[in-house]
Amino acid sequence: MEKIRTLRGFRDIFGEELGKFKRIEQAFRKYSARFGFREIELPILEKTELFVRSIGDTTDIVEKEMFTFMDAGGDSLSMRPEATAGMVRSYLQEGLYATERMTKVCTIGPMFRHERPQKGRYRQFHQIDVEVFGVKEPLVDAELILLVRMLLDELEIRRYRIEVNSVGCKMCRESFRRILIDFFETRKDELCGDCLRRLEKNPLRIFDCKNQQCIGVTADSPLLFDSLCEECKDHFDLFRQYVAGFGVDIEVNKRLVRGLDYYTKTVFEITSDDLGAQKAFIAGGRYDNLVEEMGGPATAGIGFAVGVERLAMLLPPGEAEPGTECFFAGIGDRARDYLTTLLKRCLTEGIPLRYAYEAKSLKAQMRYADNLKCGFVLILGDDEIDRGTITLRDMTGKSQDELPLDADTIVNTLKKRLSGQAPALSTRDG
Ligand code: HAM
Repeated sequence: MEKIRTLRGFRDIFGEELGKFKRIEQAFRKYSARFGFREIELPILEKTELFVRSIGDTTDIVEKEMFTFMDAGGDSLSMRPEATAGMVRSYLQEGLYATERMTKVCTIGPMFRHERPQKGRYRQFHQIDVEVFGVKEPLVDAELILLVRMLLDELEIRRYRIEVNSVGCKMCRESFRRILIDFFETRKDELCGDCLRRLEKNPLRIFDCKNQQCIGVTADSPLLFDSLCEECKDHFDLFRQYVAGFGVDIEVNKRLVRGLDYYTKTVFEITSDDLGAQKAFIAGGRYDNLVEEMGGPATAGIGFAVGVERLAMLLPPGEAEPGTECFFAGIGDRARDYLTTLLKRCLTEGIPLRYAYEAKSLKAQMRYADNLKCGFVLILGDDEIDRGTITLRDMTGKSQDELPLDADTIVNTLKKRLSGQAPALSTRDG
């Protein structure tokens, strides 16, 4: 029968990669708490309208990348393609704006986008997402950059760029829209079909097009950054000043645009050339109109998301710790009986004890212990039981000791050996 495989772009995560995910989560939790973020869990499935209204109906994500379906009641539902929309919904639904002057929240979990899979781009991927509601001052923009920097320092990642830009406010965008349309009208014949539609509905999205010819056209276009209003300019200047105060290097990239419509003012992407085509492994920005557009009071917002798969690709392999487990090799029924007593004691006292479930020869059990990279093996057969002893073999030092067959002694000896405190007493077969 044909084997069933994962869906395209969906993956099992295990072994070394899972270890990297855990290291990333651990590093993140250390700093998110320090910066005052509280963790929340959000649903994976939401009403489609939530994403259409927040991310924007002319974005690639909403137009072509959502996993959307009708449920039995006829409602259109979507698997979340990102976390910000759900965070805003939750902020409003839980009424946090009424009880907190400022809200810092974070979440970790899977996101879903129906994109063409390639290295670093999957249909199910994971984000660590942080959001701040209720702070319009640029100091918080800089603080998020500092959080990114500390997280990457903790993970010993050094080769990356922090690219920043300002996409202005509604006012700057409105006046720039006219300038942009006038420019693209003169180069209309060079634009792809999608961009011709974007020109009508949302010309700024043309900067997001992956088509080489369209990229060529945008290279000559006027830039929003050069048309920012006074307030947006001041915000960006202060942001840069604070970031400099934190001693973090950033690069202004006036062409940086984001694939989601909710952004205002500061936007940023952390990129690495070590990642290939999918360079951005952290991205975010400010969204000062979104909460109001989603039906709440006027509330500033800013946040970012870490692409966990991409960040994991930048981590060096973890150090394996062979020899931290023990193995029980028992021969005969009496030894098996003793195993249950010893196993419970060891597991209770924090000693990882492995063994073969089925009866096997000593040779086969030793091979198994080797295979599991166990540092110590306890050997118990009828001879040992008659003598009231158990043999402890050190697999790395190749030494061997005889211990009294007494659970307290065995557990205490293993504890000392595993923590490297006690050297082997005798060497018989070294
Ligand atoms: P985004 O740029 O769409 O922003 O995604 C953030 C990060 O998620 C990307 O930089 C990338 O590392 C990762 N990512 C996105 N799509 C994929 C994929 N198909 N496969 C693997 N990784 C992927 C957002 O999602 C915003 N919600 C960020 C934000 C939070 N802005 C404000 N607050």
